[in-house]
Amino acid sequence: MDNFRYYNPVEVVFKENGMAEAGEIVKRYGTNALIVSYDDVSMFRDKIDAFEKDLEKHGVAVTEFFRIVANPLMSTAREGVRLCIEKNIDVVVGFGGGSVLDSAKTIAAGVLYDEGDIENMFVFSHSCVIAKPPVRSLPTVMISTLSATGSEMNQCAVITNDKTRQKSYVWSDYIYPKVALLDPALTVGLPPYQTACGGIDTMAHIIEAYLNGDTSLNLTLQDYVEEGAIRAVKDTLPVVFRHPDDVQARGVMMWAATMALAGFINAGTMIFTPMHQMGHVLSAQYNATHGATLAAMMPAWMRFFAKRDDNARYKLFSKRIWDCDSIELAADRFEEFIRSFGVQTHISEFGAKKEDIPMLAQEVRSVSFGPDDMLGSNPKLTLKDIETIYELAF
Ligand code: NZQ
Ligand code: ZN
Repeated sequence: MDNFRYYNPVEVVFKENGMAEAGEIVKRYGTNALIVSYDDVSMFRDKIDAFEKDLEKHGVAVTEFFRIVANPLMSTAREGVRLCIEKNIDVVVGFGGGSVLDSAKTIAAGVLYDEGDIENMFVFSHSCVIAKPPVRSLPTVMISTLSATGSEMNQCAVITNDKTRQKSYVWSDYIYPKVALLDPALTVGLPPYQTACGGIDTMAHIIEAYLNGDTSLNLTLQDYVEEGAIRAVKDTLPVVFRHPDDVQARGVMMWAATMALAGFINAGTMIFTPMHQMGHVLSAQYNATHGATLAAMMPAWMRFFAKRDDNARYKLFSKRIWDCDSIELAADRFEEFIRSFGVQTHISEFGAKKEDIPMLAQEVRSVSFGPDDMLGSNPKLTLKDIETIYELAF
């Protein structure tokens, strides 16, 4: 087990129909709230209306910022910062999935950021530019409507720089939300594709730690915890598909997603996320849905390691999760599982052309390679390896 520091100050309120408490929660942190959500909120307009009435009842003034799109943009976050300053906002509420919550975090930190443009917070090149993470933020309250990223309980935000078409992250203890409100009833209307992509993203967060962190075979505690969480999602996603109104099953998906990237599950295994770095390039280039990019990368990643000697953890993963001794067969089973939900597993399905592959690999290098010109993973990977994995995912 690796050494680790575990710190997570987020209060979690998990409650079916817990939206009824949201006004009281927000009031604890401010009286002038910015609510951040998607550019189209028609699917939960009634919920937002009720929430705004509740805030009013608690003496909290509301400014709406409904401008966020999936794979959210830096330019939009900048507008949010300007609006906060203009309206003297003192608390930021994210109402949505990862794109909304990440934007809410960036805006809240951006208001108090004194290192220049908010873009400076983000790690846009591991080797050339040293990011200056924020050290202050307005308080944030996160109301999750999509079980996927875990943003509601972590210290990370992922944004695409629309000038450079590069997607990357900010990582800072100061952007932990104050409260994560988890109301599984809010996810009942989530379309099947987004439900599946969210479940795949949750699995990916755990699988990154399982395969790309500490490679020893003595991680008994972490392995059992991680395998249990992966199995819970693997078993529950089909249930949610058959019964989208099953709030209990939605609740399992929701808590699994939150736990998967809150620092606890992967403590002691290091947190390399190389498959994510490859996926982010696909989102930045083709606007592919985050979970789908991982659906394409994970089986390809397994097939790449199937051919190498340093694949003991892949064998363990194949045995314990996919019930087989062959890594290739496990990759096939994983892919079949993903496709049963109608999610893409090939990068060509996002619009990638074979001749794009060198460019994609270069983008991974430019955003995510370290000073040693390798992609952080365990083992580390070269540019050629990245190209090969994209080819396997084609
Ligand atoms: O666009 P509309 O039609 O409004 O649809 C929204 C949205 O576009 C829809 N949606 C969300 N909640 C809904 C709903 N539709 C109906 N009912 C609901 N309750 O879902 C679409 C996708 O939303 P998005 O917020 O993009 O999804 P997700 O939660 O998967 O977030 C993905 C973003 O988070 C980043 C990803 O890179 C991506 O940008 N990540 C953030 C992380 C973090 N902060 O720790 C880690 C992750 O690995 C990830 O990188
Ligand atoms: Zn993810």
